[in-house]
Amino acid sequence: MTLGTLTNIQAREVAKEITLRHGASRDELIPILTDVNRQLGYLPVDALDEISTLLKVPKSQIFSAASFYSMLSIQPHGRHVIQFCESAPCHVQGGREVWAALQTELKLKAGETSPDNRWTLKTTSCLGLCADGPVLLVDDDLFNNVTPDQIAGILAKYP
Ligand code: FES
Repeated sequence: MTLGTLTNIQAREVAKEITLRHGASRDELIPILTDVNRQLGYLPVDALDEISTLLKVPKSQIFSAASFYSMLSIQPHGRHVIQFCESAPCHVQGGREVWAALQTELKLKAGETSPDNRWTLKTTSCLGLCADGPVLLVDDDLFNNVTPDQIAGILAKYP
């Protein structure tokens, strides 16, 4: 399913199927949101509304969870999402230079999506490899000890 063809009804159907697969349990909220985000590419309002109804959890709480975690997105994004760790340990290991190289190579700033819809560039807090920074995540792939001269090669892996 591509983002361009996603309808409100399809978003609700996907959210319903995934929520029911998780037993419509409130305890499963984050796994449900993660699975819906993975399948649809982001969390459309209609999907959040459907999850709210099925879990009997107020929409405000669903939206809070959906907008809190950096691995979830309430906005459509590109085919590939780059999450760059902006926490202090990565920053002092050369993160600032890597971040500059990323922005220059992609011609994007944090939170932007490229006009061809190939990339979305985001920042995130610690990704758990603090001793091996700078660290970035491209989709589900983690890159550590990244240097500015590696950026073009990393990006080339993702058509
Ligand atoms: S500070 Fe960057 S991975 Fe922990």
